[in-house]
Amino acid sequence: MKDAAPKTIYLKDYTPFGFVVDSVHLTFRLAPTSTRVISKIAFAPNPEATDRSFFLHGEQLDLKWARIDGQDIVPTLTEDGLRCDVPDRPFTWEAEVEISPQTNTALEGLYMSNGMYCTQCEAEGFRKITYYPDRPDVMSTFTVRIEGDEKVKLSNGNPVDHGDGWAEWHDPWPKPAYLFALVAGDLVNHPDSFVTMSGKPVELNIWVRPGDEGKCAFGMEALKKSMAWDEEVYGREYDLDIFNIVAVDDFNMGAMENKGLNVFNSSCVLASPETSTDGNFERIEAIIAHEYFHNWTGNRITCRDWFQLCLKEGLTVFRDAQFTADMRSEPVKRINDVIDLRARQFPEDQGPLSHPVRPESFQEINNFYTATVYEKGAEVIGMLKTLVGEDAYSKALDLYFDRHDGQACTIEDWLTVFEDATGRDLEQFKLWYSQSGTPRVSVAETWSDGTYTLTFKQHTPPTPGQDVKDPKVLPIAVGLLNPNGDEVVPTQILEMTQAEQSFAFDDLASRPVPSILRGFSAPIVLERNSSREERVFLLAHDTDAFNRWEAGRNLCRDSLMATIRDGAGHDDAWLDALERVVRDDTLDPAFRALMLAGPTQSELAQVLFEQGVTPDPDAIWAAADSLKRHMAQRWQGWIGDTMRRVAVDAPYQPDATQSGQRSLGAALLSLQTVLDDGAEAQSLYDRADNMTLQLTAFTQLLRSGHGAAATQAFYDQWKDDRLVMDKWFGIQVGAADPADAVDVAQALSRHDAFDWKNPNRFRAVLGGLAMNHAGFHRKDGGGYAFLADWLIRLDDKNPQTTARMCSVFQTWKRYDADRQALIRAQLERIKAKPNLSRDTDEMVTRILG
Ligand code: ARG
Ligand code: ZN
Repeated sequence: MKDAAPKTIYLKDYTPFGFVVDSVHLTFRLAPTSTRVISKIAFAPNPEATDRSFFLHGEQLDLKWARIDGQDIVPTLTEDGLRCDVPDRPFTWEAEVEISPQTNTALEGLYMSNGMYCTQCEAEGFRKITYYPDRPDVMSTFTVRIEGDEKVKLSNGNPVDHGDGWAEWHDPWPKPAYLFALVAGDLVNHPDSFVTMSGKPVELNIWVRPGDEGKCAFGMEALKKSMAWDEEVYGREYDLDIFNIVAVDDFNMGAMENKGLNVFNSSCVLASPETSTDGNFERIEAIIAHEYFHNWTGNRITCRDWFQLCLKEGLTVFRDAQFTADMRSEPVKRINDVIDLRARQFPEDQGPLSHPVRPESFQEINNFYTATVYEKGAEVIGMLKTLVGEDAYSKALDLYFDRHDGQACTIEDWLTVFEDATGRDLEQFKLWYSQSGTPRVSVAETWSDGTYTLTFKQHTPPTPGQDVKDPKVLPIAVGLLNPNGDEVVPTQILEMTQAEQSFAFDDLASRPVPSILRGFSAPIVLERNSSREERVFLLAHDTDAFNRWEAGRNLCRDSLMATIRDGAGHDDAWLDALERVVRDDTLDPAFRALMLAGPTQSELAQVLFEQGVTPDPDAIWAAADSLKRHMAQRWQGWIGDTMRRVAVDAPYQPDATQSGQRSLGAALLSLQTVLDDGAEAQSLYDRADNMTLQLTAFTQLLRSGHGAAATQAFYDQWKDDRLVMDKWFGIQVGAADPADAVDVAQALSRHDAFDWKNPNRFRAVLGGLAMNHAGFHRKDGGGYAFLADWLIRLDDKNPQTTARMCSVFQTWKRYDADRQALIRAQLERIKAKPNLSRDTDEMVTRILG
């Protein structure tokens, strides 16, 4: 809970711990409200440290006794740990503490979820389990004995032995405490096995609550594919005899890469065609890969301190994106990632929460598991790879694994590896890690005597704490097209290093049309006022799938902006070009579906704001709605036909081909619903034999205002399935008419099945409301007040989820003075809550600015 004055931790203050840990032995005597943890830890002076003061982290622990080398001692206990005198030589620390997993609602440390014991230690949860130097640069081997009646008792590493009421595990790989995990419960497993590239067999298990066994097969296949892919592409082999995954219903995040024992939010691993959407399947495959890949990028090589979080997260997100691109469609994955980056990272980087990919200070590290650290962190690695090239990237990664295996590293270590492997100076590139904010790049062009010149100017607006920005290294992928649509200059990487820089292309027969920032080669805002004709031309002809999509999306955005700003009608030249793409059966249906999806309402609000126009959420909603109606009317002759042509008859498969067809079908169904008032959606709902179709149809029925029967039917069918019920809660709020969204959320929050202490359920309703842009921003502030009420209530129970949810207020300065005042009042009300958590306090303070 909140300290008198919240402490800020700085990167520049890093010093190594005064001791190394040679081994850790833990015994857990499990009991819901009185678990005993007995620790035996071998410490030795750290030759690399000068400060020998002995402080162990510990929070909410009831210390029963402590000994050094067998002698009882009485340490000095503080709020956040203990200190005592220790000998200046190797010694053994022993202690016993009592903790209460049952009443641990923060879901950090050891807690209970539906009767099962589980842990979440990253970043600083281990200190709620026992006294320990809970920092990632202190690494040790762990031996764990678990005593309890639960049928299944798991920890990291390999099983050593077990007997009646106990099990023992040993993890031979030294690891920081944040990778510790323990699970115990009456679980059942879905077993399989894998033989590694050097021929070693590995036992694989997905552990679930009885009843969920049928939802494990897909996750298991994803795991095996991930293991094979990491061997093939990165040469990385698994390093234990066993790999366990456990599904947990109450979990603050997606999943956790604990060594040999990954713990997953059940929504990120359990899947079946009847209960999961195509989107769920793809996400599950990606998260299983992500956590598995952490075994090398995170576990074998970990972070020196939490400021280096992007070292493991940026790299692992980059790796899981490569994996998904390989398993599915590369351009579709790239487009989806950019949509996500713009929806989540850009608002963060352009608002009060902006921070560098490697932050330099924090109060609560849990608040820095952000889109900037993860997704922009992955973009930075993508740029590095683009700059050095494929081969040099592989060489550098080999060197990284070779040189740093078993170490806790920094971004400096990472960049030095690239410098050594390529001979490149990365001093300027390093700014990507230290400067926050999204660079904005404008482009001017000249044409004379066969030479075409592009001149770029880069500029990064100030961000909190960083007024002045230096030019960064930008890899700008450019290709040139002839007026007839042929590509005359294939993609090349322009390496921009200065504030302003020109690049000339000689010997061209005619003035080309440029395709700039292909594949979104840098995470920037490209400010180019290209003509509508040029965009329509690129939409028809660009050979780069990303830029083809981008051209269409910009046309859509401009058309919507014209409607919002001047009440203009819709751009039919764009719609005709779009129609040709959407009806082109030679193109991937998933790509065609993406072409139909315009910018989100929140994104439009941001663009208006940047243009000096105060965004009106109702006007934005009305423009998007009017465009949808216009499209439906204009295309009524072929929508139904195309929709039926992409309908999947074959048995359900969650693969890229089928899910692409279904996503195009869904996009067209939303237009069809405008025309037939939900008739087609109802008939699809009645026939649906998979969740993708069922939820698509349900969504459209809700949008059409004819969702009452389906709402009841869906509930009756799925009331016993927690994950499907999360969808039921979320979609009713998300798809509600903006005028009703707050009332719908309010009513659902009173529903018997609204278990607000479960993060998934809480996010379904409250996060669902925030996703309903015009609904959340209802003029009278009802949405803000409702969310604030719930955040205040949740903060006592679960600070992490509360703090994370506060970020929906981060864009508040975009809106009109009345809305700003309403939001400010709610933020101040949250801030004034007695005993506000450190997590929420930091977030609200930063958002208020
Ligand atoms: N390392 C986990 C993952 O892959 C996430 C842990 C999040 N922890 C937190 N405190 N928010 O990606
Ligand atoms: Zn991760």
